[in-house]
Amino acid sequence: MTTDSTQFPQKSAAHRKVRKAVLPAAGLGTRFLPATKAQPKEMLTVVDKPQIQYVVEECVASGIEHIIIVTGKGKNSIEDHFDNSPLLERFLEEKGKHEQAEMVRRISNMVQVSYTRQKEPLGLGHAVLVAKDLVGDEPFAVLLGDVLIPGPNPATRQLINVYEATGTGAIAVEEVPRDKTHLYGIFAGEPAPQPPFGERLLRIRDLVEKPKDEDAPSNLAITGRYVLPSAIFDCLERTKPGAGGEIQLTDAMRLLAKEQGLWAYIYEGISYDAGDKLGFLRATVELALQNNELGSDFRAYLKSLKL
Ligand code: UTP
Repeated sequence: MTTDSTQFPQKSAAHRKVRKAVLPAAGLGTRFLPATKAQPKEMLTVVDKPQIQYVVEECVASGIEHIIIVTGKGKNSIEDHFDNSPLLERFLEEKGKHEQAEMVRRISNMVQVSYTRQKEPLGLGHAVLVAKDLVGDEPFAVLLGDVLIPGPNPATRQLINVYEATGTGAIAVEEVPRDKTHLYGIFAGEPAPQPPFGERLLRIRDLVEKPKDEDAPSNLAITGRYVLPSAIFDCLERTKPGAGGEIQLTDAMRLLAKEQGLWAYIYEGISYDAGDKLGFLRATVELALQNNELGSDFRAYLKSLKL
């Protein structure tokens, strides 16, 4: 395969394996108040499981072996959810509900999970930096705990494939309407097609945080999935607080793109920003329609509504 070794520094294949993922989940979730006053938004249920379980399942389906969840005040229920529940398991077994007992067991056994705490919500970039020691000197994925990208071809796996083939970090982007670019971090750069990634691969020149629609360099928005080299930590340490007084991951990635190169990858799939009320409703309706148990009844119910 052709890789762009003239532009980006190369790492040996042994150093390219992506084993770890960081899930920042320490934000205050103010867009979802009052639901998030006393419970983490990452634990709000979409159909029948908390949002963060979808994200953990995406990690597992992508081959991640160790997940680091960054939590904060009031987020203990996230740890409880992925912990053993011997009492509940025993109760279900005694009632003959073996399938449910197995489902509960699977949640705590599917992958190794570690936790670290962000003492104050100083921004997404800061939350990633808090995981520095647990990640160590190896590439890692970042998945936002409130962005769902369900489907058979996990977005994180797609980014890992790019990283493992090229040795250069990659972030997921997707098209958004031109009049909505002011809501997102927006990609600026050039197409960099190469096999086997084709037209989906782009070289980042810059990343622009929430530009005015008329100033946006493209309509490709950053989506909440990243695979980054450990060099991002050095970039984060040099990043001053930006928009909203927070340490922004986008600012550190801009540095990384200039110093080491960074791909944008137009991933295959659909994302839902479930930290936003409308995004949450879309996720709920669309995932309920796809649900094996509920899908057909729910579809019939929606059709019966007089809208
Ligand atoms: P968001 O901007 O969606 O989270 O960050 P938020 O700040 O909780 O949201 P609002 O705007 O107040 O509703 C994306 C992800 O980064 C995490 C959040 O938990 C979310 O999963 N995050 C954000 C942190 O872990 N720490 C922070 O300081 C900020």
